[in-house]
Amino acid sequence: MKRVAIFISGGGSNMVSLVDAMQTGEIDAEPVLVLANSADAGGLEKARARGIKTAVVDHRDYSDRASFETKISQILQDNVVNVICLAGFMRVLTAEFTAQWEGRMLNIHPSLLPKYKGLNTHQRALDAGDSEAGVSVHLVTAELDDGPILGQVAVPILDGDTADDLAARVLLEEHKLYPAVLKTFIKTL
Ligand code: GRF
Repeated sequence: MKRVAIFISGGGSNMVSLVDAMQTGEIDAEPVLVLANSADAGGLEKARARGIKTAVVDHRDYSDRASFETKISQILQDNVVNVICLAGFMRVLTAEFTAQWEGRMLNIHPSLLPKYKGLNTHQRALDAGDSEAGVSVHLVTAELDDGPILGQVAVPILDGDTADDLAARVLLEEHKLYPAVLKTFIKTL
């Protein structure tokens, strides 16, 4: 059974959706690790409550990205991880790290890629007067938010929407899309 690590930086609601789908057997894979780049990540407690091993590798403890990633790689090796799911992980990974994991590392991004790579995606969609926003799950490559897209869901933008309104509407779709994509992806390995 494939062994999945989930990387988080914040509340981890996407991590919870993935873990729950694996623990119910919906996804034929095992959540073996939740890794955060800060001990303050709210998702760590949610992972522990589900019996998932956690690790914190605080990027501020390392002088450069390479040493930060070396520590992460050691933890991934120790836990015999096969697949990485980035879920609200707010650190940019180096080309070297993404190359090592190419084809085995997924990310969820709150826009209809290739539109709005990077941050503040919902405000940018509102400012552009778009009629819809959405979410994408893609394979991670060296270029940020640019890898092959594995799944997307469009979400309507409604009159009067704020970025927060839109984020909340998109997040509901994220929690369905990421498990659905991972379920299918795992079968290709
Ligand atoms: C989500 O909006 C996701 O699209 C983006 O960061 C947020 C993560 O939220 N990558 P959570 O930590 O999974 O709740």
